[in-house]
Amino acid sequence: MKIAVVGSGYVGLVAAACLAELGHELICLDNDNAKLSALRRGEIPIHEEFLPELLAKHRGNRLVFSDSIADAVRLCDAIFIAVGTPPGEDGYADMSYVECVAREIGNAIHTYKVVIEKSTVPVNTCDCIRRTLTLNGVPTANFDVVSNPEFLREGSAVSDFLYPDRIVVGADTSRAATLLRNIYEPLTSGKYYEEEDAIPAPDTARIPPPLILTSTKSAELIKHASNAFLAMKISFINAVATICEQVGADIAQVCQGIGADSRIGSRFLRPGIGYGGSCFPKDLAAFRAVAHDCGYDFRLLDEVIRINEDQRARFLRKVRTALWTLKGKKLAVLGLAFKGGTDDIRESPAISVVNSLLKEGCEVVAYDPAASARAAEVLNSKITYAETAYEAASNADALLILTDWEEFTALDLKRLHSELKYPIIVDGRNLFDPGVMSEHGFLYFSVGRQDSVPQHDVAKARRVS
Ligand code: UGA
Repeated sequence: MKIAVVGSGYVGLVAAACLAELGHELICLDNDNAKLSALRRGEIPIHEEFLPELLAKHRGNRLVFSDSIADAVRLCDAIFIAVGTPPGEDGYADMSYVECVAREIGNAIHTYKVVIEKSTVPVNTCDCIRRTLTLNGVPTANFDVVSNPEFLREGSAVSDFLYPDRIVVGADTSRAATLLRNIYEPLTSGKYYEEEDAIPAPDTARIPPPLILTSTKSAELIKHASNAFLAMKISFINAVATICEQVGADIAQVCQGIGADSRIGSRFLRPGIGYGGSCFPKDLAAFRAVAHDCGYDFRLLDEVIRINEDQRARFLRKVRTALWTLKGKKLAVLGLAFKGGTDDIRESPAISVVNSLLKEGCEVVAYDPAASARAAEVLNSKITYAETAYEAASNADALLILTDWEEFTALDLKRLHSELKYPIIVDGRNLFDPGVMSEHGFLYFSVGRQDSVPQHDVAKARRVS
């Protein structure tokens, strides 16, 4: 099928590459010509596993880049809208890009087309798009508007798209529903997964994925409610972690016990310095605003957001406890991205913690496997950027772990110990086992677990008692 994707940001670019991978012919659009030229040259604007492979495979044949919405609408049966919906005033998402694109699409429709909303948007957006198309003179027989929310995570976006837990299609006519079923047929029939060069399946893959058909409004709500629920899980476990610290319990054990209940599940129960990124903070604020407009005061969301903010302040208190005073201390920071596996620093808890440390008069040397360049755009030269974790740790008063990069778990602890001036680690992502850290001679602080002291100190303490 011939498909256009308007917007070549995170969702748009990944969707276009993956739909081409499923055998469709894609036109990926953007109004930023510099970005289009870079994409045509084979440059990849985001750090995302398997995206380079897919773009190299399909660019120039099944996937082309363009800035002409009019041409794309003329050539394609389906037009996905995947433009940004940045945070606007009072928590409302700014829908001006979606409206602008809908108007342009409306001006170009002359035969039946399906317009598919993929950006994260508040409920009723499909109705607004319908109205915009009608106001721009498109007869109602010439279009359907569908909601097809995306659930991909940064860092595993390609795998999430091709191996989704579910595909949600909000369509109010059977004609539009059939077209969407055809688009996703290679996944729902399982055919894609039999291909020899298919992107490898993640461990948790549900093959084939179910396609859930709903009304457009339900699909729109599914997206906001899913993100809000996941954020709620994180804030819930962070609150429980706080209690663990007070009573001497271990959050890892508690998570194991809770997560083993299949009604709860173990995913998204990792405690830490809270959630960040371009989605959860923005979507929770937008969902709360939508609820408010409907006359419902969604106080649960207020609390989820409050716990998340507290988590950063709690971490800073932990750093202070570990170091006594902060002014003039040299701190090594591991991780600046909002989570591991991405170079995205939007709403990153790590950046927020670094800014607070700078305000307290600390000197920060940071290492991030991918996000340093982006971090430098907002932090400028206020901190030093190291090339490796060991370089960051060199002669530092303590080491702070702020992002859950997998490569940090493989660090040589002996070497890390020898690089640091004092063997103090404050781990905001619980990447290490406190027992192991103690054996390696570290004073180790983490979230929801007891602080551990170097083993020789334990031995000394035992001898004294
Ligand atoms: C999130 C959702 O997971 C996706 O399903 C959704 O499509 C996407 O938002 C979106 O709306 O576009 P993403 O923001 O890429 O994806 O990242 P997540 O993996 O969900 O992590 C979000 C934040 O929560 C990160 O800061 C992460 O470190 C934190 N987190 C996650 C925890 O603190 N604990 C956990 O157990 C899981």
